[in-house]
Amino acid sequence: MNIAIDGPSGAGKSSIAKLLAKKLNYVHLDTGSMYRCVAYKAIQNKISLDDEELICQMIDNTKISFDSEGNVYLDDEDVKNKIRTNDISLAASNVSKLPRVREKLVSLQQNMAKNISVIMDGRDIGTVVLKDAPIKIFLTATSLERAKRRYKQNLENGIISDIEQLQKEIDQRDYQDTHRKASPLKKAEDAIEIDSSTMTIDEVVETILKIIKQKEKCA
Ligand code: DC
Repeated sequence: MNIAIDGPSGAGKSSIAKLLAKKLNYVHLDTGSMYRCVAYKAIQNKISLDDEELICQMIDNTKISFDSEGNVYLDDEDVKNKIRTNDISLAASNVSKLPRVREKLVSLQQNMAKNISVIMDGRDIGTVVLKDAPIKIFLTATSLERAKRRYKQNLENGIISDIEQLQKEIDQRDYQDTHRKASPLKKAEDAIEIDSSTMTIDEVVETILKIIKQKEKCA
């Protein structure tokens, strides 16, 4: 039983998907990491982020994989931390606008989900990648709350940031992700929306576990 989790950046999708995957013994696939890897490698290779043709050729010669610890490997190099910078966040949002890049990554994601139960998080999982997933969650939170969470995270890593600036960046990415032509971020019709603004991670996990139990009862 595949589980799709979509929502805007910073809503907590990946942390929640990771916890759920552990509890349910599922494989977690963070599809945002794949767009980040593509953006990172394009920058390393000095490929313009709107050169769809060159980026597609590059993807054909690229290996992206995950391990159960949540590490991300780009051509066998662990890039988990390198792809988490602000610059790569924005660059990933840029490459994710390119329809042929999306096609390639969607097909890789669908192959990864073949024959196993996965929890996949991203922007188009419920609407495109795993259209038939029996459980679809659309996780949101206000942009201010997401900026506050990112601020705390940064602080834990010794980085002092500006909440207003973080909120601006989040709003910019939200705009790009919801207004692009190719599979913009939107809630699937059959997705259940959870606004996590005033919830803890554990509360969100519990809520999703209840939804899964309910679904199993009805099956
Ligand atoms: O979830 P994230 O912040 O790591 O995602 C990085 C960017 O990739 C984000 O701006 C939108 C894009 N993305 C996408 O278009 N489709 C996905 N399934 C996952 C991410």
